[in-house]
Amino acid sequence: MSASLATVSYIGATILFILSLGGLSNPESSRRGNLYGIIGMAIAVLATVFGPRVTLGGIPWIIMAMAIGGSIGLYAARKVQMTQMPELVALMHSLVGLAACLVGFASYIDSSVEFTGAEKSIHEVEIYLGILIGAVTFSGSIIAFGKLSGKIGGKPLLLPGRHWLNLAGLLVVIWVGGSFINAETVAGGAFPLLVMTVISLAFGVHMVMAIGGADMPVVVSMLNSYSGWAAAATGFMLSNDLLIVTGALVGSSGAILSYIMCRAMNRNFISVIAGGFGTGGGTVVASADGQPAGEVTAISSQETAELLKDSKSVIIVPGYGMAVAQAQHTVYEITKHLREKGVTVRFGIHPVAGRMPGHMNVLLAEAKVPYDIVMEMDEINDDFPSTDVTMVIGANDIVNPAAQEDPNSPIAGMPVLEVWKAKTSIVMKRSMASGYAGVDNPLFYKDNNRMLFGDAKKMLDEVLAALRA
Ligand code: TAP
Repeated sequence: MSASLATVSYIGATILFILSLGGLSNPESSRRGNLYGIIGMAIAVLATVFGPRVTLGGIPWIIMAMAIGGSIGLYAARKVQMTQMPELVALMHSLVGLAACLVGFASYIDSSVEFTGAEKSIHEVEIYLGILIGAVTFSGSIIAFGKLSGKIGGKPLLLPGRHWLNLAGLLVVIWVGGSFINAETVAGGAFPLLVMTVISLAFGVHMVMAIGGADMPVVVSMLNSYSGWAAAATGFMLSNDLLIVTGALVGSSGAILSYIMCRAMNRNFISVIAGGFGTGGGTVVASADGQPAGEVTAISSQETAELLKDSKSVIIVPGYGMAVAQAQHTVYEITKHLREKGVTVRFGIHPVAGRMPGHMNVLLAEAKVPYDIVMEMDEINDDFPSTDVTMVIGANDIVNPAAQEDPNSPIAGMPVLEVWKAKTSIVMKRSMASGYAGVDNPLFYKDNNRMLFGDAKKMLDEVLAALRA
């Protein structure tokens, strides 16, 4: 393929990536957006493999690498459960970071291209920054994978003097950076490069270990952004314009997503990075004197069905538990049944519901819930007072009134779905355990709240059967 055809293909792929991002911003156009992304990536890969910079002898190697990588990807995509998606994404980010490091080292020791003067310094700065971002992304993503999959506890690790440790690390990285650029030989530059890599790896581990479980949404999107910048750095090292543009697109969209996540949790980005709160969830939280924090009123699935049947308007608030129970299809059946009976049913989606951005939207789309009844938190929060029943399905932190009522709560100030303002709220979960942030939820003890204990799928099946009876 000629150089100009490769350039045209790259421009085409860039446009498709931008269209893809635009499409993904709305559930209705997201399938189309995905398709644009797939086509763009296919063009990008073909234009690179058959482009002017790959020799004929290199093609079998590339095809072999693609076959191995593709098979692993296919296997992982088929095997992974929807609830394991966030950790898979974290693992993939780590691979982008690792690739940036490996490309950095390879292009440093590659003697086939000679750089001199300013060009040499620029290339070395690209390599240094590329490996730095790549190493932080790699180790940070591995720790995020551990935390999201529960292999590492969600409690923040706050080392004494951690900010000083980070500052000292940064100063050493700048100092050895000087020795790296001034090194006369490749062997002379290798040592500072290795020192910086080790410090960056340690920084990535330290940074994510210090972040509390409740701040993990921001970390996922932040590492998404870092992986983009790592890819852009790889693009600079390889002089590949498409990789630079694509990396910048991922990097900047990840940064915007981190900002949106911070806003959704009323957290400031700097305080998230500086170390947050949260235990990883799943614990029963008692009040300060060790007694249960209040009385709860249980309800049966039969009574739930009666309440739903008698209401005019219902808002369903799904959370992580709906994903665990895979209850979305039954939720849809109940929605369909109620709508046929003239009940207005809508969904309220919190931006950090579940364990990854858009988690609930994906599940509801999979179950074919119409997009026009799926509302964002800001669109629906004022409607709770005029709602008869809110059904909270496996959600906890995102409906916690302590965020508004208790200024000392760790989640104080976080915007939440105000489900308790409806005439009756029904919370479906298996026990009194806390959610991801490890914070008690006063919603459970409110007079107008009922608890439907049990696995969400099992209980909803019972509710559906009672509705149909
Ligand atoms: P959580 O606060 O984690 O609450 C989920 C609830 O679901 C738990 O209290 C659990 O109670 C219940 N549950 C679990 N399995 C269930 C099942 N099979 N059937 C019925 N209930 C079940 O979830 P949320 O309200 O969606 O809030 C999300 C939390 O995750 C936030 O703190 C957020 O910051 C954090 N987070 C979000 C993300 C993103 S990007 N969305 C990423 C990482 C972390 P039982 O054990 O009693 O059943």
